[in-house]
Amino acid sequence: NDNVSSKKKLHFSKTKRRLPQALIVGVRKCGTRALLEMLFLHPKIQKAAGEVHFFDRDENYNLGLEWYRQKMPFSFSDQVTVEKSPSYFVTPEVPERIRAMNASVRLLLILREPVTRAISDYTQLKSLAASTTPSTKTTASKSFEELAIKPDGEVNASYRPITISIYHTYVLQWLEIFPRDQILIVNGDRLIEDPVSEVIRIEKFLGLEPKITPDNFYFNQTKGFYCMKTNGSERCLHESKGRKHPRVDPIAVSKLRKFFNDHNQKLYDIIGEDMGWPE
Ligand code: A3P
Repeated sequence: NDNVSSKKKLHFSKTKRRLPQALIVGVRKCGTRALLEMLFLHPKIQKAAGEVHFFDRDENYNLGLEWYRQKMPFSFSDQVTVEKSPSYFVTPEVPERIRAMNASVRLLLILREPVTRAISDYTQLKSLAASTTPSTKTTASKSFEELAIKPDGEVNASYRPITISIYHTYVLQWLEIFPRDQILIVNGDRLIEDPVSEVIRIEKFLGLEPKITPDNFYFNQTKGFYCMKTNGSERCLHESKGRKHPRVDPIAVSKLRKFFNDHNQKLYDIIGEDMGWPE
């Protein structure tokens, strides 16, 4: 009897739920979903469904690693499990908690030009507010310019979509815990324009064989973004990815770009890479 059950166990234990070996930690609205879905084209990648929010929400973190592991997909031992929760990036407790799980975990941080990211964030918040309670309708009706720039003409750095785009303040906290070479900075603007070139960098970083090719993508004119091809079927991201942004007054845009100049330079210095964002 014992023999039979151990054989069965051997057979079924080829796949199991494993803690992630790689995490997409943010930044929200920079293409975190696109990045995860594109990586999932690779046969050696498994992804957690949804956003697990293990490290950033105490009520989840307190349930322990076994709870987290149960949220992971089944994988073979040579596969890499990836989870993404964009709010990890901005939650101070998270880097240390991730290190406690696995000090050699690989981190993917996707960034996008900060003004575009802020507008994307505003667009999402507005769309969420419009679909929920009437009390938030007031915020929903305010323009991006009103929220991002104070009446005295200064940039409103405490408006959340602006704050989150000041990447270097958060990146510093991550680099206190993780060595630079354990974090890959993914260029979210390039992921939109030329997904294959970014995905190839990530395959290398994760130590995977190059498998994803231009044949895995086609440009969808209606959506205005690249969509994915797998085994003959075509798939675009949900309609909430690739929303139309409102027109923002060019004077406000250049004021914001100017505001972000110093911050971006600080970021480039910290990460040792120039993202090439417009001044
Ligand atoms: P917009 O909706 O403002 O255009 P996240 O998944 O982190 O919320 O990021 C959403 C953003 O992913 C979208 O912001 C969009 O620009 C970007 N993105 C990148 N590649 C995409 C793709 N192939 N299809 C749709 N959106 C994509």
